[in-house]
Amino acid sequence: MIRLDKFLSEMGLGTRSEVKKLIKTGQIAINGTVAVKPETKVDTDADEVSVNGRIVKYQRYEYYLFNKPSGCVSATSDNVHDTVMDYITDAVHDDLFPVGRLDIDTEGLLLITNDGVLSHELLSPSKHVAKTYYARIDGEVTWDDIIRFKEGIDIGDERPTKPAELVIKKSGSVSEIELTITEGKFHQVKRMFEALGKRVIYLKRISMGPLKLPDDLKTGTYRALTQAETDMLMQIKSGK
Ligand code: URA
Repeated sequence: MIRLDKFLSEMGLGTRSEVKKLIKTGQIAINGTVAVKPETKVDTDADEVSVNGRIVKYQRYEYYLFNKPSGCVSATSDNVHDTVMDYITDAVHDDLFPVGRLDIDTEGLLLITNDGVLSHELLSPSKHVAKTYYARIDGEVTWDDIIRFKEGIDIGDERPTKPAELVIKKSGSVSEIELTITEGKFHQVKRMFEALGKRVIYLKRISMGPLKLPDDLKTGTYRALTQAETDMLMQIKSGK
């Protein structure tokens, strides 16, 4: 249950004082009856709120799939750089944040939401959510590297990395690979290759758990998750 004025302003109908005016002037109805008190309590699951006859559905959480460009930081504010949030221009709520971090020069899939519980589940080390990256590597990537990644690599932390799956797409003076990891250590992909004496020259995340970066989602743009994508995330959120 939330106050009617909060409901309306959370759903983007204006500031608290703007929506109070809508209420006072009889433009809002709850279950077909005009509601004139901003403090009226609304059951967000059961009540039907309408503005001048148009039903407004309550949505507590927002979920966006963003194709992060290089040059912006995965944070909600920064004194120097653009943040990923600068790209999310039509969110209804003002409490959205990126789920996890990609380096400033990394591109690709980033989930933006205000669902803290889901974020926690996706980032929790015990959940082993798989993340796949496409990378270009300066140098030849070999079958031996596949084995090294599978065995786990010492990147200078207390423990070696967990087994990671390396797929070589092209091997040459510049190689192309896909790497799937189930952890999220700082600069993990770059450090894993560095430990083998190779340098990542381009990095892009192409999947995270059940979410895949759509081919047609241009770098720097985003879209709301589909119902199927949200349903898959809700399974993770509920601990399944
Ligand atoms: N690994 C990295 O090195 N950088 C990223 O941005 C993500 C994973």
